[in-house]
Amino acid sequence: MTVEIIPCTKTMAAEIRGVDLSQPVDDDSAATLLEAWHKYVLLLFRDQKMTDQQLKNSAAWLGKTSQIAMPVDRRGDDDIEIQKVSNIRDKAGKPIGALGDGEMWFHHDNSFTEAPDKATWLYAVELPSTGGNTLFGNCYESYEALPKELKKEIEGRKVLQVYDFTIREKPRRNELADVPHYWQPVVVQHPVTGRKALYLDRLMTAAIDGGSDAESDELLGQLFPYIERIDYEHEWQLGDYVIWDNRCSVHARRDFPADERRLLKRGKVEGDPLLSAKIAAA
Ligand code: OGA
Ligand code: MN
Repeated sequence: MTVEIIPCTKTMAAEIRGVDLSQPVDDDSAATLLEAWHKYVLLLFRDQKMTDQQLKNSAAWLGKTSQIAMPVDRRGDDDIEIQKVSNIRDKAGKPIGALGDGEMWFHHDNSFTEAPDKATWLYAVELPSTGGNTLFGNCYESYEALPKELKKEIEGRKVLQVYDFTIREKPRRNELADVPHYWQPVVVQHPVTGRKALYLDRLMTAAIDGGSDAESDELLGQLFPYIERIDYEHEWQLGDYVIWDNRCSVHARRDFPADERRLLKRGKVEGDPLLSAKIAAA
């Protein structure tokens, strides 16, 4: 099997040709994929045909499949390894999946947990005629683009990542009793590449430590625009399989017609607690 790697843009993403993810990936190809994934942050495999069982093994070259934490009542079904990302409703009007309709702001998946999943994959099963592209930003580039003073100002600090996709007004630090949350390093050192990545996003970051709420809002307001960059825009085709690194990228979604069906299957690969760039460099 010859693996071909075709970079998509100057800053991230590569298409892989010559790999059928429905079959076990041999050791040489696995090493090639791993190296490419760390280099390009996101890999795209087109024309994949996979059953759920095959999907569950599709990222074995990268690590262990993670169990889905999202409560069953929010996501429509109870498979613990594959989640449906969909706006489709069943005959009774109940959503068959999670993250239904519309635009989604840039975010890192599972950033509100102690050990966020290192990778997420999405596999396209049904698509609207237009819209619904997934946008990706490279957070190494976000960090690099910060002015020196901002890099200095945030060194060694932490951001409060909170989970609730249903609220846009984020809770304050003293209102967290019922909200899954975790303080993450605002600059993450990637455990494999050693590179520094900015880690925060408008959807889930509620505060940065080291000051008052007002100071935190002010600083986050300065930082968010650096994260919201489109390094790669994925226009979905049926059978596309995309897998990205959550430690050094963010993603968002463009709007699509609410009356058209969209179904992606989604799984994740377990990760470790994130490393703070400052501590890792010390
Ligand atoms: C996700 C996600 C974006 C999309 O599954 O984590 O953000 O395009 N999906 O549906
Ligand atoms: Mn997501």
